[in-house]
Amino acid sequence: MDNITDEIKSRLDIIEIIQEYLPQLKQAGTNWKTFCPFHNEKTPSFTVSREKQIWHCFGCSEGGDIFSFIMKIEGIEFVDALRILAKKSNVILKKQDPQLTNQRAKLLEICQLSTDFYHQILIKSPQGQIAREYLKKRKIFSSIAKNFQLGFATDSWENLTNFLLSKKFKENEIIESGIAIKSVNLSAKNKNKIYDRFRNRLMFPIYDVHGNVIGFSGRILEDKKNEAKYINTPQTLIYNKSQILYGLDKAKQEIKKENLAVLVEGNMDVISSHQAGIKNVIACSGTALTLEQIKLLKRYSSNLALSFDLDSAGQKATKRGIDIAWQQELNIKIIKLPKGKDPDECIKKDANIWQKAIKDSQSIMEYYFDSVFLNLPRTGYDLSIENKKNATKILLPIISKLTNKIEQEHWLQKLGEFLNIDEQILRDSLIKENTNFNSKSMSKEKNNLSTNKQIPLIDEQNLLLEEKIIGMIFKFHKNLKEIILKFPINILQNKKLLELAKNFIKDYIKNEEKFNEDQWIKSISKEMANYFNTLIFAAEKDFLNFDSSIEYEIQKNINILKKNILDQKLKIIEEKFKKAEKEKDCEKINFLEKKFKEIIEQLNEINYL
Ligand code: CTP
Ligand code: MN
Repeated sequence: MDNITDEIKSRLDIIEIIQEYLPQLKQAGTNWKTFCPFHNEKTPSFTVSREKQIWHCFGCSEGGDIFSFIMKIEGIEFVDALRILAKKSNVILKKQDPQLTNQRAKLLEICQLSTDFYHQILIKSPQGQIAREYLKKRKIFSSIAKNFQLGFATDSWENLTNFLLSKKFKENEIIESGIAIKSVNLSAKNKNKIYDRFRNRLMFPIYDVHGNVIGFSGRILEDKKNEAKYINTPQTLIYNKSQILYGLDKAKQEIKKENLAVLVEGNMDVISSHQAGIKNVIACSGTALTLEQIKLLKRYSSNLALSFDLDSAGQKATKRGIDIAWQQELNIKIIKLPKGKDPDECIKKDANIWQKAIKDSQSIMEYYFDSVFLNLPRTGYDLSIENKKNATKILLPIISKLTNKIEQEHWLQKLGEFLNIDEQILRDSLIKENTNFNSKSMSKEKNNLSTNKQIPLIDEQNLLLEEKIIGMIFKFHKNLKEIILKFPINILQNKKLLELAKNFIKDYIKNEEKFNEDQWIKSISKEMANYFNTLIFAAEKDFLNFDSSIEYEIQKNINILKKNILDQKLKIIEEKFKKAEKEKDCEKINFLEKKFKEIIEQLNEINYL
């Protein structure tokens, strides 16, 4: 094994690899230096030696070789770091290596074999003809289909499953890779049979940032009303939608070069754009941006241009994504396209439209201003008082979130001009807004007795999870009786969602078989009904029809949520613990130790993947 690691090291440049994560790494004498990613510091003490192929931080004393760096920064085990670096260095790892036979490696192998399987059908087999025609119709060249390893899943229930079984993979491994589903309510004879998840679909392999296939998205060839346009791999040991940006493996160098990432909604948009030669483009595949995705992006650039349909039903989720990106200090721009068109459609018409739209992208504040002021009617020169109040109500909280004071001042002035109101008045309101904001977060911190600044962000993530779980329950309640009956409602932290879910579950349990969704909706407020519909809509993005993987998905998300909540509790206890230690408060220390153990036990109980 030593030979392999040495071989890999000799083929890689430690500077180049580390720079991928820490673009600020700069030469200083014979060594290279930057701020340490593993602790907070004001002067750079993270040092890398190209000659010795090692890194060391003189601030926190961490250090090691390129393997330990990847393990630490990615939070992964040695085996996975080995895979990543082997791939980068074109060293081929033998399958028999016992260290590689862990579960993750198996799933990666299944995904890679499936990619090849689907791709061969698309390019060669007579059964793939229909998909080849589809690509032609959508003007996708075969070279780009090859580059993205597009494929075709034939209209069969067992084609791929049988192939994988013949390669000696076990049924449970195939299911855990997300490729196959175990049937639940078929006849006794077929019970427990497993079948292909993707049938009669154009297949897009989904890659992680290192270029490993970790899942799939399958598009129907002909849009049908009651079938989902896309079916995706559910969350697996290797695939977590919220940590992936489609196309990043192919776009990352270009994003670095252009110092700009262009984020679109669809896989097809990414592919078209690459085909047109604009390659700093990635997709979030129809979901809201998450903290993990933003952190991943920040490795390559801190400029992000969004090409989103901001008027769509997903708008709220998009705004939340923008807020997270803002907190991470990304510069956000908005790309405007002709109404109703997505990037793919623009490009197919004329790639220059797309290129120009990226170039002309608007700063997000300009965008917010436009979207408020272009829609307000003016009487004569002036806005009505009502409209002035409305505009202030929308824009002032946004301005208050700007971290750069000069920028904040600039937009405050602009708002004053637009409203024809003395800027000082706005500034006073802004201060109020800020103190409101601060006192709100202060009281939150008081409740949690924590000073951890990350907490509001974790709350955002948890809210997304909560909404996802409840959305799926709302959408598929007919099939989810068991889950609903024992749903741990107290895991919901968002008040509005909690109220809505409680109300729903109460009515559901009371009426049992006779539960009538339409009647129930009539019994709740319009605002709540709207929220209900939004949640269903979000769930439909992932699943249109019920299948057995949904229960699994819900359970898994409940577990992740539980884990997050316990993690948060742990952090709070840790802080209190430090304080108690400082104050030498033995009674408190004992008490906290007990609490700590309890939570660790609860964490262990969660079967968290
Ligand atoms: N999506 C999904 N499930 C759905 C619909 C959409 O996962 N039922 C995701 C897909 O990743 C898709 C993205 O959301 O790429 C954007 O959806 P949409 O705009 O509807 O699709 P397009 O990418 O434009 O696909 P096409 O051009 O082929 O219609
Ligand atoms: Mn499209």
